[in-house]
Amino acid sequence: MKQPFEPERLLHVARTFGTPTYVYSEAVVRRQIDRLRTHLAGLPLRLLYAMKANASPALLRLMRDEGLGIDAVSPGELEVALRTGFPPDRILFSANNMTDEEMHLAHGKGVLLNIGELSRLERYGRAYPGAEVCVRLNPQVGAGHHEHVITAGERSKFGIPVARLDEVRAVVARHGLRLVGLHQHIGSGILSAEVLWQAVRVLLDAARSFSGLRFLNFGGGLGIPYRPDEAPLDFDRFQQLIVDPLRAYLAEHPSKGMACWFEPGRFLVAEAGVLLMRVNTLKEANGRWFAGTDSGMSHLVRPAIYGAYHALFNLSNPAGPLRTYDVVGNICESADHFARDREVQEIREGDVLAVLDAGAYGMSMASHYNLRALPAEVFLPAGPEAPPVLLRRRRTPQEVAEAWLAETTAGTAP
Ligand SMILES: Cc1ncc(COP(=O)(O)O)c(C=O)c1O
Repeated sequence: MKQPFEPERLLHVARTFGTPTYVYSEAVVRRQIDRLRTHLAGLPLRLLYAMKANASPALLRLMRDEGLGIDAVSPGELEVALRTGFPPDRILFSANNMTDEEMHLAHGKGVLLNIGELSRLERYGRAYPGAEVCVRLNPQVGAGHHEHVITAGERSKFGIPVARLDEVRAVVARHGLRLVGLHQHIGSGILSAEVLWQAVRVLLDAARSFSGLRFLNFGGGLGIPYRPDEAPLDFDRFQQLIVDPLRAYLAEHPSKGMACWFEPGRFLVAEAGVLLMRVNTLKEANGRWFAGTDSGMSHLVRPAIYGAYHALFNLSNPAGPLRTYDVVGNICESADHFARDREVQEIREGDVLAVLDAGAYGMSMASHYNLRALPAEVFLPAGPEAPPVLLRRRRTPQEVAEAWLAETTAGTAP
């Protein structure tokens, strides 16, 4: 059974701050950054953190202090990254279906734009002739843990199809734009180095004829093993298939000193987060045991929308015998489950369960659905003696209602 990080400290967090609560481990984030840097050693590397995975300022500051940059995909993300102290030249702005307003905002902040539509590239060229730009290509190879997270290929809305490179060239030339980077991001939760290589190869072919490039950005997408039968990404294979050929390629490329950028989200933070929740209802119905909790799909929507698997661990009964449960939430939807037919250490009402690998696309996709409060968030600093830090307090039902009424016209409408 997969173990959470520091179970005793997690129980202490649940006792101190209550549930539902997301907890983020500094030690695990740093471990993942180190792992990636070790595996990519030998490349002229820049890592951007894809903050959509988890935009908690505590994690952003950690990434900043580790020297990472940011992949920002909305004006809100851009603003938060800047206010967290990322210098503009460490941010890439990759908004999808960018508006004129967003384009002017990012350019005005001195941030490099990553453009994935020919019409936007044309508008950017007209507005800022001679400016530097990065272009997002669709290498026509897509992959991911679920159809909904595949971001390249025939049916994808993202990027400019690689076959239309001549049109990119024409727009760039027409406006004297300086194409300094080529980008791709083919999907999320990828555990096969072979698939990643198929896409990398396309970008390398596309980049061959360009001089003046400062970087190639291979996107994020590196997966983590959520299920017990999943193997982690094989980084030896990654080295062999991707890192070694990349080094040879860079040595021959007409753009001298070109860097390799990666923009992982999930790989850096998924394993660093758990969602703590308390079981308040045990119920047998039609031969199934339901363990009902004080959290739900409004806090972690991945099982509902992707059928995603998250390991569960009973912190209150770690040595208990395994029994089979449907672990469900408190939201009025049948999709509201954390696991079905899952073996978990025997659950009693009042037990605290940890939902593992919940650091990426957990809180960042959470909502107020059913007008339930968002979970609290707690940061666990590295070192067993350091006290946990409350990052976000859980709102009371009264505060939820007040905020809701204040933010809408409902409070004053007739
Ligand atoms: C452009 C871009 N870069 C990076 C990422 C991060 O992906 P992951 O969390 O799988 O590493 C995403 C995720 O959707 C993305 O859209």
